[in-house]
This record gives sequence, structure tokens and C-alpha cells, in this order.
Amino acid sequence: MHPRLVIFGAGYIGGAVARAAVARGFVVTALTRNAARAEELRAAGIRVVVADLAGDTWLEEIPAGADHVLNCVSSGGGGLDGYRHSYVDGTARIGEWIRRGRVGTLVYTSSTSVYPQGGGAEVDESALTEPAGERAALLLEAERLSSATAANRVFILRLAGIYGPDRHMILDTLRCGGPLPGSGAHRLNLAHRDDIVAAILACFAAPPAVAGGIFNVADDRPARRAEVAAWLAERLGLPPPSFDPGSAAGRRRPETPDRVIRNGRLKSALGWRPQYPDFRAGYESLLSR
Ligand SMILES: NC(=O)c1ccc[n+]([C@@H]2O[C@H](COP(=O)([O-])OP(=O)(O)OC[C@H]3O[C@@H](n4cnc5c(N)ncnc54)[C@H](OP(=O)(O)O)[C@@H]3O)[C@@H](O)[C@H]2O)c1
Repeated sequence: MHPRLVIFGAGYIGGAVARAAVARGFVVTALTRNAARAEELRAAGIRVVVADLAGDTWLEEIPAGADHVLNCVSSGGGGLDGYRHSYVDGTARIGEWIRRGRVGTLVYTSSTSVYPQGGGAEVDESALTEPAGERAALLLEAERLSSATAANRVFILRLAGIYGPDRHMILDTLRCGGPLPGSGAHRLNLAHRDDIVAAILACFAAPPAVAGGIFNVADDRPARRAEVAAWLAERLGLPPPSFDPGSAAGRRRPETPDRVIRNGRLKSALGWRPQYPDFRAGYESLLSR
């Protein structure tokens, strides 16, 4: 039997999971709002429904029941209202759909931005998520709604900063010769696209004894932003990078807390290991493409 997978939000991560799952023989249905993306997905053998997750039209279009479900919508812009719409209202709709037919495993991609800790703290899944900012509170509400669905088990994956093919802002800025907006002092907690896809597939494949829960997804060795930029500049044969905390983009960017996100729970529960354990391995693979 081919496992049935439904993906809500087939963007950067969702699209990559969809392709990887098709290659493994899954029957994949993906929901997207984006007609151009829908064509690309169909060409890759994925069944596509074009709809807004928070609306109700798709409830009749996607047959109820699935072995696996992935919710990886992003806010899609629109500020706090966009967050509420896509994360909270969207997850509530998924809960409604799951009540219609049996779902084995639900994976929801949350974010390490739900953790407020800074000051070099080590952050594992037992860390407090209080005090939560407005956006983090909405992500936490989507986590709570996900956990309350009728799926047999629910994995909440709190993703660190995503990078990978076609998503490498520091590299792009350095290549353009510009200063990097913001500061270089804090550590970057990163997760390569392919390691996130592997973590999601590991949730689907986990034996029934693994009950689900909350898991951080980050690489093994966070490094300071200045160190990442300096390594990249040297690797590209460019002058040492500069930072501009006062630039418009730097001022818009909320100061990223300096901390170390720990990934041990995902390793011990699911046997996951990052293929790209630090930024050097990940960026080297991007530069050699
Ligand atoms: N970016 C990061 O570094 C980061 C860090 C931690 C966690 N995360 C989380 O990781 C997940 C995957 O991120 P990503 O980079 O793959 O995001 P992405 O590329 O922006 O893809 C998200 C997809 O969700 C779709 N979407 C948003 N709202 C929707 C709605 N109401 N109805 C239907 N589709 C909707 C978007 O469609 P449109 O194109 O139509 O907007 C987009 O295709 C997200 O849950 C995100 O919050 C991201």
C-alpha cells in the first residue's frame, strides 16, 4: 500500500517534502494558494488543491483520512492578522478536517521563535515559552490546536532558521557587496532544508511506540552571525563583511536572541542526525552546487 500524505502549505519546506515523499512512493495531496506553484507540483506527480487553508472550500475537495498530514503554512505576510489567519484559523480548519476521517500522524512545523531566551542560554524543549511576544503567542496557539486534533499522534517541530538551495540571504548580500543589515554578535541557529525534510519523514516513519511531542530541529553547532559571514566572505574571495545595525532592514529586524537551540530530543527519539551539522557543511554544499 502507498501511504497517503496530505500537505498544507506547499512552499519551500512543504514542496520539498512533497517531492521527497513522491520519490518514496507516497500518494501526496498538497494544498496551496498559489496557482503557479500548483502547476509545478502537479508536474512532479502531486495532487493539488488550490485554496486558502483558513477557508472551508477545500474540506470537500480533499478526501477525509490520511496516513500522514503535514501543516507547514507560513504567515504569508499580512503582519499579525496574517499570522492569525494562516496559523491559528488554518490549524483550526485542519482540526475540523481531521475529525472527518482517521489521521495517523500530524506534523506541524512551528518555530524556535516561540522561545524568548537569550543571553547565551541553552534551549531545549523544556524551556519556558513565556513571556511570549504577539507572534509567538499565535504560533503557540497553533501548536495547542494541533495537539488537540483527533490525529493518532502529533509532532510539533520547532524549526530553527531555514536555509538551503535558493534560500541564503547572507550569501546573497555578500555577493551583492552590501553590508549585512543588523548585528553579527548573536549566534545563528540554523536548519538546512534537507535536514528538516528528513526530520519530517522520520516522524512519519516513527514506530507506533513513539507518541509524538515537541522537538527542536536545529543543527549541532550554532555560530555567531559574524563568524558565518566572515567564513563565507573568505570562501568567496570577498573582503571581510561589515554590518549595518542602523540600516532600514536592520532596524526592522527584531534583535535575534543569542542562544543555543539543542536538538538532542529529536536525535534520541527518532534517530535523526543532521546531514549538515553546521553552517560550513551546509554552505559548502550550496557553494559547490
Ligand atoms: N523561514 C524560517 O526560517 C522559519 C523558521 C522557523 C519556522 N518556520 C516555519 O516553517 C514552516 C515552513 O516554512 P517555509 O519556509 O516552507 O514557508 P514558505 O516557503 O513561505 O511556504 C509556506 C507556504 O504556506 C502557504 N500558505 C500560507 N498561508 C496559507 C493559507 N492561509 N492557505 C494556504 N496556503 C498558505 C504559502 O502560500 P502563499 O505562497 O500563497 O503565501 C506558502 O506556499 C512554516 O510553518 C514556518 O512558519 C520558518
